[in-house]
Amino acid sequence: MALVSAKEMIDKAHAGHYAIPAFNTNNLEWTKSILAGIQEANSPSIIQVSEGAAKYMGGYKMVVDILTDLIDSMGITVPVALHLDHGTFDGAKKCIEVGFTSVMFDGSHFAIDENIAKSKEILELAHSKGISVECEVGGIGGTEDGVTSNGELADPAECKTIADLGVDFLAAGIGNIHGKYPANWAGLNFDRLAEIKAAINDKPIVLHGGSGIPFDQVHKAVTLGVSKVNINTELQLEFAAATRKYIEEGKDQEGKGYDPRKLLKPGFDAITAKVVELCKAYGSAGQA
Ligand code: G3H
Ligand code: ZN
Repeated sequence: MALVSAKEMIDKAHAGHYAIPAFNTNNLEWTKSILAGIQEANSPSIIQVSEGAAKYMGGYKMVVDILTDLIDSMGITVPVALHLDHGTFDGAKKCIEVGFTSVMFDGSHFAIDENIAKSKEILELAHSKGISVECEVGGIGGTEDGVTSNGELADPAECKTIADLGVDFLAAGIGNIHGKYPANWAGLNFDRLAEIKAAINDKPIVLHGGSGIPFDQVHKAVTLGVSKVNINTELQLEFAAATRKYIEEGKDQEGKGYDPRKLLKPGFDAITAKVVELCKAYGSAGQA
């Protein structure tokens, strides 16, 4: 099946009150493990890549080629969108050229006027090619220099301004944080989420920093308009834990030489299992 735009699957999820998972990938096997999970769960899904991960994988075109070839060779039948995560202005333009079917332009660090101007240009370009667009208002909190902020809250008026440009889904801070949540995290701010939902005329909202948010909070967020949940850290943690266990048990020392197919298999299997679990938890399983 060819890559699809993320718009249709997210609009369907929005109407059906579930969320589409967006899994970050980092390499060939990571991509393969995610695809195995979404196929097993029969879940329409987004596979996304940061600019750094794309560079690591050999460039944007390589990411497109890896994903399309794997979809073909693995016989994947569920709808898959390839999305640029937290894209810069130039990065989003390049991805639009080489075959991504969805892009995020993250202009949240610009002053609102510049965010508007740049978002507009990306929207025109992407929409002329049937590519979906996510834009961001207000930053998403996280750990910087060892200091963890409690997550920013986007301004509903600014959300409306950006949403009205015609974005397909909007990323907005509602107390969510990238990376691990601290023990004293205040949780998602549902009052702010409801204000944003009202301000943007019920356009689908994206929840960044999905790793580790308790499922009951995700479910409540879905009832208030969240239709895409981003997951990166959780897959990394699963991979690291399974690989560490394999090594600590001395299994990497069995047999002759170093075989990445054996050493990395538990980690990749753990990614697949987590993908299936999250598709079920978000309600996207069985929706393909
Ligand atoms: O854009 C990517 C995500 O927001 C992932 O956040 O690493 O906390 O799961 P996470
Ligand atoms: Zn994010």
